Amino acid sequence: MSLIDTLNDLRARELAVIVQYMRHHYVLTGADGAALADEFKEVAITEMKHAEALGERIDFLGGDPTTKPSEIMKGGATLSDAASIDLASEEEAVGLYRAAVKEADAAGDVTTRRLLEDILADEEGHMNEFRTMLGK
Ligand SMILES: [Fe+2]
Ligand SMILES: [Fe+2]
Repeated sequence: MSLIDTLNDLRARELAVIVQYMRHHYVLTGADGAALADEFKEVAITEMKHAEALGERIDFLGGDPTTKPSEIMKGGATLSDAASIDLASEEEAVGLYRAAVKEADAAGDVTTRRLLEDILADEEGHMNEFRTMLGK
């Protein structure tokens, strides 16, 4: 798999979590849910920026930025359910971005590596946010 394919896989995941987190933002109710619903929106907006940055980089490298989201996780009617699902998505993202940083490094693509490192830092922050919601 080429670096462009890896970037497109990451972009597809970003597109999926945008929809997933916005959905949680819309459906969460109840005292806890309503108080934290905006946090899901804030995270989703950051994911939009990731999808856009990856799209620009893919285009620059001569690829075609995907418009197709990967699998969108179902569920999330309660705060703990939504935060658990989204924490799993973030944990997966962190692993994939760490691997992609190594791949960009091996390809000698310093700019892509730096972009991926910046996004990775955001994903670790998201992981922390969802953990905090779950009291972990
Ligand atoms: Fe992201
Ligand atoms: Fe994230």
